[in-house]
Amino acid sequence: MITLTFVSDRLDAPVVATASAGMRLIDVVRPLALSGRLPLAWRCGQGTCGACRVRIAHAAQPAPLAMGKMEHNVLARIVPDAATGEIDTPDTVRLACHLTLAHDLTVYFS
Ligand code: FES
Repeated sequence: MITLTFVSDRLDAPVVATASAGMRLIDVVRPLALSGRLPLAWRCGQGTCGACRVRIAHAAQPAPLAMGKMEHNVLARIVPDAATGEIDTPDTVRLACHLTLAHDLTVYFS
């Protein structure tokens, strides 16, 4: 079981959720957002619109960045100045639609 802790200036307190390894982050975000517990924006749910931008922190960072070409291309279109280098750090912008859960994460969004 993976623990996700969502942190944002838009929250009064962190929101904690659990998920199974292998799930996509967006699949955890959507029901929380639809129930009003998490004000994290998303639109397409398919990794193409770029609305679900997050930054993540986990115990394995810094690590080589495993970002697929589609996620990279969407980010390059939406936030061209985003840090999409080759190292996974808490400053790296990611898309919840493209993140497959493998570790406990702290998820930051604005
Ligand atoms: S909701 Fe569109 S890319 Fe994630």
